[in-house]
Amino acid sequence: MGVHIPRGTQDILPGDIEIWQYIEEKARNLCRRYHYEEIRTPIFEHTELFQRGVGETTDIVEKEMYTFKDRSDRSLTLRPEGTASVVRAYIDNKIYGQPGQPTKLYYIGPVFRYERPQKGRYRQFEQFGIEAFGSRDPAIDAEVIAMGVDFCRELGLKKAKPIINSLGDMESRKAYREALIAHFKPQINEFCDDCQRRLDQNPLRILDCKKDQNHELMKTAPSILEYLNEDSAVFFERVKQYLDDMNIEYNVDHTLVRGLDYYNHTAFEFVSEAEGFTKSISGGGRYNGLVEEIGGPDTPGIGFAFSVESLLALMEEEGITLPVEKTLDCYFVSIGDKAKEKIPSLLYRLRGAGLSADKDYLDKKVKAQFKGADRANAKFVAVLGDDELENGVINVKDLASGEQQEVALDQLVQYIKERL
Ligand code: HAM
Repeated sequence: MGVHIPRGTQDILPGDIEIWQYIEEKARNLCRRYHYEEIRTPIFEHTELFQRGVGETTDIVEKEMYTFKDRSDRSLTLRPEGTASVVRAYIDNKIYGQPGQPTKLYYIGPVFRYERPQKGRYRQFEQFGIEAFGSRDPAIDAEVIAMGVDFCRELGLKKAKPIINSLGDMESRKAYREALIAHFKPQINEFCDDCQRRLDQNPLRILDCKKDQNHELMKTAPSILEYLNEDSAVFFERVKQYLDDMNIEYNVDHTLVRGLDYYNHTAFEFVSEAEGFTKSISGGGRYNGLVEEIGGPDTPGIGFAFSVESLLALMEEEGITLPVEKTLDCYFVSIGDKAKEKIPSLLYRLRGAGLSADKDYLDKKVKAQFKGADRANAKFVAVLGDDELENGVINVKDLASGEQQEVALDQLVQYIKERL
């Protein structure tokens, strides 16, 4: 029996990878414009980082992490998200002490969650995320949401929209927590085991429960927005005002609580208005206590993460095809043994000059070599016969226009470069 790919993972093959590269390039470009710099952290971290960072009572930590012991009996976990890792790196490398605050970072890389695989949802997926540390200015909250809006627009997504909420500061959260306990307690035995357990530990999580989402009490649950103290309410108003000033459309949804524990103040998700598309394509928010929680100085933070998989699912839904194509500048076809032996050095010259070029390596007949040029979507085919070789020339055909020209071998690079 063969060994096959693990459930919930995928191979991304040539033909598809160009789309991933296109999206990643757009992400990098976006970050350059908004002045976010790249950071790369390890794929695995000490398990404790996510327990403390993401939160003990979250689904991610309770049910979805890939945790293992290494040979020295340390508990390690494949990162289920990027924020906790970036916070750890921010502290470990004392980035908080460097000049040029706030620190604005981005990352693109795989993360791992043991979730039920479904459309746009995998067990290994790729997150593009940003994190900004060191500012309590609501303008950064608006900037982060604006970046997400720009990113969606650049990928051609028309139906993606931010929904936002405020989870308030510690004081507001405390008041809300008590209101939630009072609301759910009388009928908590009608809820799932997780909800029952979470009532006292973290009642906000009940609002995020998928099993009980249709329970009557869910619809009548109090709104966090009614429990915001003045500072939190003013903060949220400022964020919305900045978004309005930028003409950014959003919906406020007071039931949005997010699946990770570290959020306060602004929380948001990007969802699609396409019918039947219920999953978020991005989530994020402010996490002012997290750096301290992981052992650093009291530092505010905010960020988001998109997954490429969920973006691709929405693109498919919206019928978007990205302008990516495989191309090659020049494909060589040889007729005769001498010509065949000459081509490797010509290829070397073209490639050294920055052109993309290839040839057949399977001793194919001339017709099949031309097919190879077609398959590679070559812009030029350079045909070399033994006679041409003797005269120091080569026949170059522009496959788009059909134009053909005999070119001196030592002019080949220049000839193609001028016409690309
Ligand atoms: P999250 O909402 O857990 O947030 O994940 C962000 C995005 O990752 C989701 O909106 C969704 O598009 C995608 N995603 C989640 N699970 C899967 C999956 N199994 N397969 C494919 N895509 C998935 C976070 O991870 C936070 N760290 C975001 C953040 C950054 N908050 C502040 N800074």
